Amino acid sequence: MIEVQASPKHFLGMPAARFLREYWQQKPLLIRKAFANFTSPLSPDDLGGLACEDHALSRLVTHDPDSDQWTLRSGPFEESDFAALQDSNWTLLVQDVDKWDADVAALLPRFGFLPSWRLDDVMVSYAEDGGSVGAHVDQYDVFLLQGLGHRRWQIDTDPNAPKRFREDVELRLLREFTPSHEWLLEPGDMLYLPPGIAHHGVAEGPCLTFSFGMRAPSVAEMLSDFAGHVAERLPEELRYSDAGIAPAKLAGEIDEAALEKISQTLLASLTENAVPLRGWFGSFITRYRAAHEAVPREKPISARELQRRIDAGASLEFNPWSRFAWSREGRDAILFVSGESHRCPRKLAVRLCQREALDAVESMAFLPASINVLVDLVNGGHLAPGRARRKT
Ligand code: SIN
Ligand code: CO
Repeated sequence: MIEVQASPKHFLGMPAARFLREYWQQKPLLIRKAFANFTSPLSPDDLGGLACEDHALSRLVTHDPDSDQWTLRSGPFEESDFAALQDSNWTLLVQDVDKWDADVAALLPRFGFLPSWRLDDVMVSYAEDGGSVGAHVDQYDVFLLQGLGHRRWQIDTDPNAPKRFREDVELRLLREFTPSHEWLLEPGDMLYLPPGIAHHGVAEGPCLTFSFGMRAPSVAEMLSDFAGHVAERLPEELRYSDAGIAPAKLAGEIDEAALEKISQTLLASLTENAVPLRGWFGSFITRYRAAHEAVPREKPISARELQRRIDAGASLEFNPWSRFAWSREGRDAILFVSGESHRCPRKLAVRLCQREALDAVESMAFLPASINVLVDLVNGGHLAPGRARRKT
């Protein structure tokens, strides 16, 4: 089955466990009415406004169908840039829209069946009729939700399809693309694609598409970060050693015994190390590919002051750019926040990973035991005490 109908109980058209077992990272799936009666939380004008912001990552792709020429421009844009465009064959794409728009972020809990640290961002594209970014392949899983209007998606499920790119275009466009499937998506329909599936989506009339993109660090990235992390902790005195070697026979030879020794030494340093894998990974994944970092609070807050503000009814609001994850540590948790780690009760770690503002009553339940963690998060710029509200 490559096409399913969602139901009120199953937005993926099946239980999440079945989707994960049969489709996730393996096969594409078109889910009709995944978001039933979907109304876009964002308008094309909102997206255009965001693309004019200095710190938003935006791109404009235009295509001339007659000459098959593509142009790619990066933002920030000016309103006049859009006014100068034709009414067809262009697409505006903005990355990380979930960090800028709370209503877009509110769509994310639907993907709670996946570890939240696997989710990268919500990219939103607005295209005029014929607008597209061309046929391409992504390295990450993506859920493409149709927000407004219609988009015709074509995909190629052939694992042996050629993957050569055009050299005349800045975009990584496929030279050849022979679709095996084609659908017209309506608002609320969603196409899931695992990494490596060639796809091509063309707007039929004005069209808004939400891409929920996953993150998968390359093994090369993980290895070099982990090795660096281990290396920083190894003492200078731990060095290449070769007690008990046989006399050298031929000048300059690096023999099998030496290679074996090197291999054992390196593997031992990575596996028997005093640096638990979980501590490294939590810190690595919560700072991986972060487009913006939290700015530490200018004037640090004291535990007493924070306690006073919570007592007065202040909520704790999240910095949308801060990433949270946690891992078990005995009966507690190690909470990872944008590369830093804090020991705290599991309940607090789970609650913070939900990323919804904590009202004063909720915060109080974690006090006084966790006040120091909350103070660190506030001073690091990851949480901010909001306006005092009346206690409920
Ligand atoms: C788009 O929204 O136009 C492109 C999204 C994608 O292909 O990943
Ligand atoms: Co894509």
